[in-house]
Amino acid sequence: MRVLIVKDYDEMSKKAADIVAELVKRKPNCVLGLATGSTPEGLYSELVRRHKEEGLDFSKVITFNLDEYYGLPGTHPQSYRYFMNEKLFNGINIRKENTLVPDGKVPIKDIEKFCKEYEEKIKKAGGIDLQVLGIGGDGHIAFNEPGSSLSSRTRLVALNEQTIKDNSRFFSSVDDVPKYALSMGVGTILEAKELLFLANGEKKAEVVAKAIEGPITSSITASALQLHPKVTVILDEGAAKMLSRVSFYKFAAEAEEKIGMKLF
Ligand code: PGA
Repeated sequence: MRVLIVKDYDEMSKKAADIVAELVKRKPNCVLGLATGSTPEGLYSELVRRHKEEGLDFSKVITFNLDEYYGLPGTHPQSYRYFMNEKLFNGINIRKENTLVPDGKVPIKDIEKFCKEYEEKIKKAGGIDLQVLGIGGDGHIAFNEPGSSLSSRTRLVALNEQTIKDNSRFFSSVDDVPKYALSMGVGTILEAKELLFLANGEKKAEVVAKAIEGPITSSITASALQLHPKVTVILDEGAAKMLSRVSFYKFAAEAEEKIGMKLF
């Protein structure tokens, strides 16, 4: 696992954008796995800037989002489809049909089939080359709440109390937050060829330390990242505050610079 500790949110976003942009240039038809939430917003605005000012070309890129609130149509301002259109897709030259987000309005009876097909579409696209991830206050990646199987696949999930409370900041009241979501599973995420895990702010420090340095447990589904051979973690100083191996991470990051090679 590469753990890069940077000064602030802005630097985290730029470093993450460097990794995404490098892939898009090297493999123009790459498959990106994308996340929503406050964490990757800066990454997306930096990618939009690089498209507009530097011509970063997304015309052949395919994207799959991690999750969507169940019950919200893509036109709802709090839906993740809406978020992605607003924060990224409308600002770059990606083809809308190449942007896949789970459909929050799929009828209950069709959910199983829909989720299976979502996974099949990922496989058909050649698998996800790079999956962007944030972490929830309860340690989730995507909406894999504590207790989710580490081999879970895309499915309907119930949101736990903390997530509903955390996300109520975007809704007029906590009662308006959807109680269910469609989410890629931990097993789905671990199949991506490379992971890019981002966290910022002191509020995340404790859960980040558990995820990166604690035992692998379904109680903190982000800890499953430790099972993946190619993970880059980018943290700002706040989110890195409770890590115990900081001097090692800094040493390894300096070594990377010297030898010009990523040390996973
Ligand atoms: P946040 O959410 O980026 O808004 O903190 C992260 C998450 O819940 O995965």
